[in-house]
Amino acid sequence: MAYNMKKTVLVSGGAGFIGSHVTVELAQAGYDVVIADNMSNCDETNYKGVCAILGKEMPFVKMDFCDTEAVDALFAKYRFDALIHFAAFKAVGESVDDPLKYYTNNLGSFLNILAAARKSGTHVLFSSSATVYGEPEKKPVTEQSPRQPATSPYGNTKQMCEDFLRDCVKAYGMHGIALRYFNPIGAHPSALIGELPRGIPNNLVPFITQTAIGKRECLRIFGNDYPTEDGTCLRDYIDIVDLARAHVCAVTRMVEDKMDEPYEIFNIGTGRPVSVLELVTAFEKVNNLKLNYVFAPRRAGDVMAIWADPGLAERKLGWKATRTVPETLAAAWAWEKHLQELGL
Ligand code: UFG
Repeated sequence: MAYNMKKTVLVSGGAGFIGSHVTVELAQAGYDVVIADNMSNCDETNYKGVCAILGKEMPFVKMDFCDTEAVDALFAKYRFDALIHFAAFKAVGESVDDPLKYYTNNLGSFLNILAAARKSGTHVLFSSSATVYGEPEKKPVTEQSPRQPATSPYGNTKQMCEDFLRDCVKAYGMHGIALRYFNPIGAHPSALIGELPRGIPNNLVPFITQTAIGKRECLRIFGNDYPTEDGTCLRDYIDIVDLARAHVCAVTRMVEDKMDEPYEIFNIGTGRPVSVLELVTAFEKVNNLKLNYVFAPRRAGDVMAIWADPGLAERKLGWKATRTVPETLAAAWAWEKHLQELGL
């Protein structure tokens, strides 16, 4: 009898920016992937792009993870070896204005996921964020660097979900990994999937590409009076495909039973600080264009400088970032041009 040895991974929020790239990398690494998404914050562009890159229709379930019955039905239909949870709201400012929206959705969906994972024995990978470190005293930050009180409900949900996972792993004999992303940017080299912000982008790179293509008039660089070399903030910008590959390493570590501890945390960054001004200049240079930008006052809630020590991920996951900032920014620009062709 034919026996399918392939492992199956659920990707919640798989039609979004990070989820779509992770789906591609998992499928290319030989995993069966089921995408589940309520499409509340995206259209079908990335889903179609994923299918085009992989050359097949990917299993897709339109559902909301806050709906307990829908979650139960999903886990009754499929037997997942691991799941990766991305389905969440992610706008920092909106979370300050409407905290209940964030707490209800981001915590409620993860609680349902955890209950289903517990019942079915599914390994859990949670998408956390470097935002848990706040403004760190020592840089680069390691996984041992202290978490700081969150400055937004969004950031708070990341910390709380990490804690939910840690406690469930401890109490129920589950296995879980939290990946703390630094600043994911760029797009797939095919230019078929990428970031699709709704309305005015909050994040730097979509604002840069939209300004370059003429959708926005001018980029504002928030603050040039920080005590950094050029006065602008420092971040660790991580290529989205590199970031996606870290998920393949983490899932494999879980399903192959290679974990040192049942709950593990890894920083996913490059270890390289880049200033806002450096990023803008690199974008202009690699894409051979001039960007319209001005210096503006600091943005409330921004940390001055943060970058990762990615050493633990390299040692334990066998993962490290490989793509250069210019490569990543060229991909981001190719994606913006693709969106223009699509009329988006
Ligand atoms: N920036 C600008 N102009 C813009 C947008 C951003 O100068 O139009 C600057 C910001 O001030 C910051 C840098 O570009 O110095 C990066 O900003 P992003 O908004 O792209 O990213 P953040 O570092 O603010 O965001 C990260 C994560 C989020 C998380 C947030 C919490 O990507 O998921 O930290 O503070 F919510």
